[in-house]
Amino acid sequence: MSTPAIQVSGLHKSFGEHEVLKGIDFEVAEGQVVCVIGPSGSGKSTLLRCVNRLEEPTSGQIFVEGIDICDPEVDLDAVRSRIGMVFQQFNLFPHMSVLGNLCVAQRRVKRRSKSEAVEVARRNLAKVGLAERETAYPAQLSGGQQQRVAIARALSLDPDMMLFDEPTSALDPELVGDVLAVMRDLAAEGMTMMVVTHEMGFAREVGDNLVFMDDGVIVEEGDPRTVLSAPQHERTQAFLSKVL
Ligand SMILES: Nc1ncnc2c1ncn2[C@@H]1O[C@H](COP(=O)(O)OP(=O)(O)O)[C@@H](O)[C@H]1O
Ligand SMILES: [Mg+2]
Repeated sequence: MSTPAIQVSGLHKSFGEHEVLKGIDFEVAEGQVVCVIGPSGSGKSTLLRCVNRLEEPTSGQIFVEGIDICDPEVDLDAVRSRIGMVFQQFNLFPHMSVLGNLCVAQRRVKRRSKSEAVEVARRNLAKVGLAERETAYPAQLSGGQQQRVAIARALSLDPDMMLFDEPTSALDPELVGDVLAVMRDLAAEGMTMMVVTHEMGFAREVGDNLVFMDDGVIVEEGDPRTVLSAPQHERTQAFLSKVL
């Protein structure tokens, strides 16, 4: 059996007195797509942020490709370079063109030459359907296009896995589909993905596993089709009855 891409066990996270994650255990196998759903405040973003140690766990263990990322000796930059992250807000540099946005981290993190960075950027822009927009500035693009640029930017650093935190929640409804289509293509190519989302259709069609979180614990998880159509726990049922 190969090493899981992500393995979390007994993860707790508190902010002061407030315990936000109360013992989380789960695994993401290589090439798997795990979708995470749950009410606002249940700890989804905190969980995602712990996986690349944007948050420091209070206790518990997190392994990324077999590496204990809570080990004080760990090379965090090396671990983070394997993990692409896409947020609800696209966080593009407003004063840089699309191409500039895709090249800056490559040059800094990957130490690529300008011409190499441009080549990788163009390949990834084509992948998200924005080959024609490399000279545009973020403000000239729709929210959906900006989010696809953000995905292309993350892909340009050659991650082994991608974490998405509500990537379509800030978008007008008609722009959501193009972003989900890009994510669906990525999944089909075998990218390992952890996706916090409210898009139940995406979770059902693309997810290999669905995790329902509430109040800092995983209440229920399993095949998305099963969890969505026949949730076992009362809390899952109550949540789904509100969002479906
Ligand atoms: N940096 C922080 N400091 C204090 N409390 C935080 C911080 N980040 C998140 N929280 C709290 O943790 C809880 C879970 O937040 P979050 O992980 O963002 O939930 P979700 O993404 O499921 O909406 C919330 O009550 C939130 O206010
Ligand atoms: Mg969140």
